Amino acid sequence: MIILGIESSCDETAIAIIKNREVLAHLVLSQIDTHKAFGGVIPEVASRMHLEAIDGLIVQALAMANIGLADIDVFAATTGPGLAGGLLVGSLAAKTLSLVHNKPFVAVNHLQGHALMPTMNEDVQFPFLLLLVSGGHTQFLAVNGINDYKILGGTIDDAIGEAFDKSARLLGLPYPGGREIELLASRGDENKYKFPLPLIGQKNCNFSFSGLKTAVREVVIGKELNDKDKKDIAASLQHTIVKILLNRTKNAIESFEKDYGKLNAMVISGGVSANLKIRTELGDFLQNRNIRLVCPPINLCTDNGIMIAWAGYCRASAGLFNNLDFPIKVRWSLEELKQ
Ligand SMILES: Nc1ncnc2c1ncn2[C@@H]1O[C@H](COP(=O)(O)OP(=O)(O)OP(=O)(O)O)[C@@H](O)[C@H]1O
Ligand SMILES: [Mg+2]
Repeated sequence: MIILGIESSCDETAIAIIKNREVLAHLVLSQIDTHKAFGGVIPEVASRMHLEAIDGLIVQALAMANIGLADIDVFAATTGPGLAGGLLVGSLAAKTLSLVHNKPFVAVNHLQGHALMPTMNEDVQFPFLLLLVSGGHTQFLAVNGINDYKILGGTIDDAIGEAFDKSARLLGLPYPGGREIELLASRGDENKYKFPLPLIGQKNCNFSFSGLKTAVREVVIGKELNDKDKKDIAASLQHTIVKILLNRTKNAIESFEKDYGKLNAMVISGGVSANLKIRTELGDFLQNRNIRLVCPPINLCTDNGIMIAWAGYCRASAGLFNNLDFPIKVRWSLEELKQ
C-alpha cells in the first residue's frame, strides 16, 4: 500500500510517501525562521505559508519517490488538533487528490501520528504505556490498539515543551528552545539551582509545569547572566524536568498495571522525546523494572510527514477510512478516536 501523508497542523509543511514501512520520499519545510522573530507561531502567517508551499512539495515528493499521483493508494492528512488554517490547507489538499483520483482519504489525529511513530521500525505489542511529550501536550496514555487510547494523566497547565520554550526565552535563547536548553545543559551544573517539583508525592500521574517557568524567571530577573549562569540554569531545569518525569512515570506504571497487567514496553514520543538526557534517564529507570523503552528516531520526534503517513497506513490497514466531509478539529483528544 502506498500512502501520501500531509502534516500542516502547526509550522511545518511536511509530505511523506511511504510504501508499507518503507519511506519513498519525505520533505519537511519548516517555517521556524519566519516565526522566530515573534518568539512563537503566528497562525495567520503559518496558514499562508502552508498554502504557498504545499503543491510544490507534493510534486517534489512524487518526483523523489519516482511515482505519479495515480500510484498513490491512500491520501492521509492531519485533521487536528492544531491551528485551523494549516489544518484546512493540508486536509483540503489530501481530500481533493482523493476525490480526483478516486482513492480513499484518511483523517489522522496529529497525536496519533506522534503516538504510533515508534511502531514503524520497532515491534511493540499492544497494550503499551505512552508518554506523549510535545510542544502542546504532556500525557500518559494506555494504548490498547491503534484507535484505543485511555488518558492516565496529563498536565494541568503548561505542556512540557512550553516549559522548555518559555524558560529558553527567559535565557535569551531562540525559539523553539528545547534543543538549545539541552545543548547548554550538557555543559552546566545540574545541582546549582533548586527548582520546584510540583505535584511530586501525589498519587497520580499528572504534571504542572507553569511554576517551573516562574521559578526560572525569579532566578533570571534583573540579572546580567553570563554563559556559565545560563548553562547552570539550563542544566538545573533539565535535571528537574527529568526528576518530575521519573516520579510521574512510577505512578503511571502502577496505574497501567492495575488495568492491563505487567507492563513490558513504554513508548515516548513527541518533540521533547528527542532529548537525550530524558531518553537515557528514563531508559535506565525502566530497565531496572524490566520494561523496554521505545523511542522514535531523533529526527522523527518533532512534527514530520512520515508519522502522518504511517498513522494513515495503520488506520487504512484496519479499514478506518473517512468521508470527505470529515471536519478539521482544532481540539481532538486521543480518547475520542474510539467512539
Ligand atoms: N532536544 C530537545 N529537548 C527538549 N525539548 C525539545 C527538544 N527538541 C525539541 N523539543 C521541543 O519539542 C517541542 C516541539 O515538539 P512537537 O513538534 O511535537 O510539538 P508541536 O507539534 O508543536 O505540539 P503538539 O504535537 O502537541 O501539537 C518544542 O517545544 C521543542 O522545544
Ligand atoms: Mg507535534
